[in-house]
Amino acid sequence: MRQNFVAGNWKMNLTLPEAQALTSEIVQMLHDEPTSVPAPQVVLCPPFPLLLAVGRLLGESGNPALGAQNFHEKESGAYTGEVSARQLHSVGCQYVILGHSERRQHFREDDALLAQKLKTALAAGLKPIFCVGESLETREANETFDFIGQQLAAGLFHSSKEELSQVVIAYEPIWAIGTGRTASSQQAQEVHAFIRGQVAAAYDAQVAADTTILYGGSCNAQNARELFSQPDVDGGLIGGASLKSRDFVEIIKSF
Ligand code: 13P
Repeated sequence: MRQNFVAGNWKMNLTLPEAQALTSEIVQMLHDEPTSVPAPQVVLCPPFPLLLAVGRLLGESGNPALGAQNFHEKESGAYTGEVSARQLHSVGCQYVILGHSERRQHFREDDALLAQKLKTALAAGLKPIFCVGESLETREANETFDFIGQQLAAGLFHSSKEELSQVVIAYEPIWAIGTGRTASSQQAQEVHAFIRGQVAAAYDAQVAADTTILYGGSCNAQNARELFSQPDVDGGLIGGASLKSRDFVEIIKSF
């Protein structure tokens, strides 16, 4: 279901007390302050050791929901140090980030692995937030659309219609992540419209209209409103600004 949506990707930040304080502040502010109606879906994605504690503070309402940042592609077994999708689901995760550029780059996650992980996540009952996005080099070579089209085809479009209905797509241009250099709202809209068009071509117009597509990359309390006002931008996947309760809640209130 297409919906206004804001997810916070905490990456490898925050200790347990810091995470508890941040979560409590966000929950309190969202309780006290009005958001758009219907309320945007909010997801917090802490590191593994903090999931249970953050989940307890979020409670059972499902909004904000709990999400994870990663998991192993196999269901279970002798993979020392790894975490399974079923384990994440069992501690209350509803969402999981998949295909983030930091995992593609630093952990060599390729399209074939992502396709496998997508199936594993869905089988465990997790909703993937599937990330795509080009490097500066690719953008400057005018190959952004080809590149993203390929990422979608190889990593995502093997899914059935029913599977895709569980997936949120996030467009995160690599050159905008953590750099303070956000995509302009026109640049974001152009790629989001392209992604929706690719979904329509691979499935149908109704599936495309129902798909939630997020923007990520230096999205903050100052630029969120402009980005979210674009017709194909349904919300944001937020890194740095999700670590400050006031900034994150302002972003949630930007619809
Ligand atoms: P920043 O918001 O810090 O640029 O990070 C974006 C991101 O990578 C979210 O997944």
